[in-house]
Amino acid sequence: MRLSIIGAGYVGLVSGAAFAEFGHDVIIMDIDRERIAKLQRGIVPIHEPGLDRLLDKNSDRISYTSNMEEAVREADIHFICVWTPPLEDGSADLSAVRAVARELGKQFVKLKVKTPIIVTKSTVPVGTGVAIQRLVRQSYKGDFSVVSNPEFLRESQAVADMLRPDRIVVGSNDPDAAKTIAGVYHDVNAPIIMTDLATAEMIKYAANAFLATKISFINEVANICEIVGADVERVAEGIGHDPRIGKAFLKAGMGYGGSCFPKDVRALHQFSNASGYDFKLLKSVIEVNEQQRQMIVDKVNKHLKILNGKNILVLGLAFKAHTDDVRESGALDIIERLQIQGANITAFDPLALLNAKKKLNDLVILVGNAHEGAVGADAIIVATEWPDFKELDWERIQSVMRKPLIIDGRNLLDPSEMRKLKFIYEGVGR
Ligand code: NAD
Ligand code: UGA
Repeated sequence: MRLSIIGAGYVGLVSGAAFAEFGHDVIIMDIDRERIAKLQRGIVPIHEPGLDRLLDKNSDRISYTSNMEEAVREADIHFICVWTPPLEDGSADLSAVRAVARELGKQFVKLKVKTPIIVTKSTVPVGTGVAIQRLVRQSYKGDFSVVSNPEFLRESQAVADMLRPDRIVVGSNDPDAAKTIAGVYHDVNAPIIMTDLATAEMIKYAANAFLATKISFINEVANICEIVGADVERVAEGIGHDPRIGKAFLKAGMGYGGSCFPKDVRALHQFSNASGYDFKLLKSVIEVNEQQRQMIVDKVNKHLKILNGKNILVLGLAFKAHTDDVRESGALDIIERLQIQGANITAFDPLALLNAKKKLNDLVILVGNAHEGAVGADAIIVATEWPDFKELDWERIQSVMRKPLIIDGRNLLDPSEMRKLKFIYEGVGR
């Protein structure tokens, strides 16, 4: 099949590479010319393990362009993979999706295409597929279909998730178009769930909101564990063996971050409200997530009292390990809260320093390794669960700190080991 991918970000590039691997001809389009120029030179603009190899392996089936006319000429099925960031009120900003829909309509007319299919892979609220139909119809009067094919990949495992998904959701009000899109995945061994348009759009939000709810739930369990003297890590183990609960997403910490959970939970809450339904549970999920970050700051305050002039090393800036992505990272949020109280912040991350630098103010000193940052520190906060942090020479770090305090926001380190090394150690719920 001839496919176009509109939007060359995490989802677009990984989907494009995987579709080419499945044997399709793929043209990847983005309005960011610099990004496209890089891709044309073989430079992958994001960090995603295995993506460069997959793009390279299938390079004879993949082309890149910043020209929508070319994308429409070279493909019959168009996957919208552009961003849908949050607006001030929590709703999804659909301006990029709308711009693409209008442009597709115009190009369909200009190039006299026959029965094209538009697929939304971007995460979009229920009703967006129908809105896209309306926008395209403003210029194009021929037959076309809209299909929702939400994406469930995780950053840092995106290639594996795309090649071996646990399910594929295809939603459309046109059964033939839905069958065609299911056919894009002919080689993939995964259940295909065929639904109508609205249901597929809802599945994506329900999935992210449920996972976020699991995280907020275990964080609340952690907080009560601290009060009553139980260990949340063991509680998570104890409940996770029950297959009805499952082990995944029961890691207590500083709350969920990243470009999707915070925005999608808020968007589902917002569009439920706008539809006349008060989704009470989600309101609490959001509040608990906020509270969890403040609790890390409260733990620092508990030990250091006044933060003005205190030196704090933040270990980890990415929103989770194995990525350079700092969007809605808990680390950045906590740094801001500490700076308001006058703390001097030093920070280190094995991969995300460059991206973090663009978001942090000049007062934050970024260092090339943890040991350098620990000299004279009054506290260390572990903010990302990088496995490398476990292997640090903690004895040496202890010897150069002004006060040997560790606030482990990810329950990464072994509390008894740390206490043996004469650290004051605080995790979350243990
Ligand atoms: P991203 O920010 O990495 O990339 C988006 C790309 O879209 C950018 O390269 C941008 O230049 C391009 N773009 C914006 N407007 C455009 C336009 N009018 N025409 C062409 N290109 C345009 O975004 P992402 O992380 O890949 O997310 C894309 C969508 O997929 C979002 O809706 C997101 O919620 C969803 N999603 C993301 C993930 C993830 O892990 N990142 C997983 C599942 C779903
Ligand atoms: C998440 C979902 O897992 C994907 O299925 C989905 O496609 C994607 O959002 C999306 O829609 O964009 P991702 O944001 O890459 O993927 O990261 P996750 O691994 O889900 O982690 C999200 C956040 O939750 C991170 O800050 C992580 O540290 C935190 N988390 C995760 C916990 O605090 N505890 C856990 O047990 C699991």
